[in-house]
Amino acid sequence: MPALTAQRTVIVTGGNTGLGYHCAKSLAASDQGWHIIIASRDQTKASAAVRNLINETSHRHIEALQLDLASLVSVRAFAATVAQHPAPPLGAIVCNAGISIAGGLTYTTDGFETTFGVNHLGHFLLINLLLRQITTPARIVLVSSGTHDPDTLDGRFNPPLYYNAVHLARPEESGRPPLPGIRRYSTSKLCNIFCAYELNRRLIAEGHSTAEHPITVNAYDPGPVPGTGLVRDYPATARTLWESSVFRRALNMIGLKISDVATSGKAMARLISDPALAGVSGKYFQIAQERASSQESYDIRKAAELWESSAELVKLMPDETIFQAQMAAATN
Ligand SMILES: NC(=O)c1ccc[n+]([C@@H]2O[C@H](COP(=O)([O-])OP(=O)(O)OC[C@H]3O[C@@H](n4cnc5c(N)ncnc54)[C@H](OP(=O)(O)O)[C@@H]3O)[C@@H](O)[C@H]2O)c1
Repeated sequence: MPALTAQRTVIVTGGNTGLGYHCAKSLAASDQGWHIIIASRDQTKASAAVRNLINETSHRHIEALQLDLASLVSVRAFAATVAQHPAPPLGAIVCNAGISIAGGLTYTTDGFETTFGVNHLGHFLLINLLLRQITTPARIVLVSSGTHDPDTLDGRFNPPLYYNAVHLARPEESGRPPLPGIRRYSTSKLCNIFCAYELNRRLIAEGHSTAEHPITVNAYDPGPVPGTGLVRDYPATARTLWESSVFRRALNMIGLKISDVATSGKAMARLISDPALAGVSGKYFQIAQERASSQESYDIRKAAELWESSAELVKLMPDETIFQAQMAAATN
């Protein structure tokens, strides 16, 4: 029987639109026990989304808090707000917000390339800060993409290219040419999986996640979902294609299994709410199916390097993280 009052808080980044909105909607519609925080960079859009979610689901425990993942100050302010906030214990984080930039290099307020800064570094800092507030059993989902895998149709045309974190954060300082926009995106999505697997390893290695008190961490690919705002920064022709039914049919014809926001948003919510997944961690899900991620995504040295470099880039302080070890045991 659903709870009458909210008992656990879930944070959905980018929950104001697209897949994040439908994830929040699915959680709200299925379980009154969730207090849902829509973490969004735009409070006007977020407030409208909260109103729509309440209207659509009659779930009252939904609110918006401001979070701009392109600003480390904003991420730290968000975590401080959550810590002071009168809400039920934090039990889940859905790292869904994401951006894809087709054109030239742009930078976050901290001087990081925007795709990597928002999709990976902002979430990396957010997770570390929120882990200090989380109560077990807890679940964390990092939203990746099939584009991370060059052995699939999704990833074949613009595969990721991972040298190291500094190359992605500050390409002009790295001595290597920057990646084109679409490959910056697929590479950032590979980083989401490195991060999920490395986080899982560290939580277990340092005893923060146990069978009795689990913090599960999984990566999620919603499949190709045309029509969302993901290509908002692309040229007009690409945006029109993204919206068109002809494009969907063409993708279907070449064998890409097209999904939709409701189906993939619900599957995202399932990773947080399905009792059958209570102890499942360190896995990759494509919509409803658990499957293998790319070969490269299991490279523990790259994952550890990404983690350590990210901690340096965001200037993570010892009192901001629950982790003791500086280098992953996995690298030994
Ligand atoms: N659609 C697909 O085909 C597809 C496929 C694979 C994976 N994904 C992944 O699914 C996730 C959701 O994408 P979507 O398709 O639903 O796209 P979307 O409609 O554009 O939603 C992206 C969300 O991220 C938010 N966001 C962007 N930059 C942000 C920032 N600096 N700080 C905070 N929030 C920020 C956006 O906020 P605003 O509304 O303010 O812009 C929006 O709420 C992304 O991680 C994406 O990589 C999507």
